Amino acid sequence: MSITITTTINGKAVSAGAEASTSLLEFLRDTLEYKGTKLCCNTGECGACTVIYNGKPINSCVTLAADANGAEITTIEGLADGDKLHPVQQAFIDTGAVQCGYCTPGYIISVKALLDRTKKPTAEEIEEAVSGNICRCTGYNKIVDAIQLAAQRL
Ligand code: FES
Ligand code: FES
Repeated sequence: MSITITTTINGKAVSAGAEASTSLLEFLRDTLEYKGTKLCCNTGECGACTVIYNGKPINSCVTLAADANGAEITTIEGLADGDKLHPVQQAFIDTGAVQCGYCTPGYIISVKALLDRTKKPTAEEIEEAVSGNICRCTGYNKIVDAIQLAAQRL
C-alpha cells in the first residue's frame, strides 16, 4: 500500500509517496536523493544512517518512512551554510577524524544533536552520544578530539 508522507527535511517541506514498509533511510536515499545518510548494517547496530528526528538522533534504517509524517528531520545535507561547513564538520576535518568517511555523516549528526542539547558536554555525555555509532577506521580518539574541538568552537 502506498502512502503520502508530508514532512520537513532540513527546513524544507517535502511531500512524496512511499510503501507502508519503506524505511525512513530508503525514503531519504532512494526517493528524495539525500545520499549523505549512509546504509550499512540496516539493523540499527552501526549508526551510519543517523538523522535528527524531532530533535533526537535516530537510526533511520529501523524507522518507517511513515513515521516521518509531520516530523522535522535533519540530515547531513542540512548542516553546512552554503560553502561554510558546520563547526562539527570542520572539526572532524581539522582533527583528522575522517578516514574512509563512511561512518562520518552518522557521527556528525549524533554530535550535532548532542551539542544542540549541551554546549559543554562531559566525557560521559560524549561517550553516550556516540555509543550507537561504529567506526572501523579511526580508533575513536580523533573522533573524541573532534567533538571536543567542535564544542570549544560553538
Ligand atoms: S545502517 Fe542503520 S544502524 Fe546501521
Ligand atoms: S572513517 Fe571509516 S568507518 Fe569511520
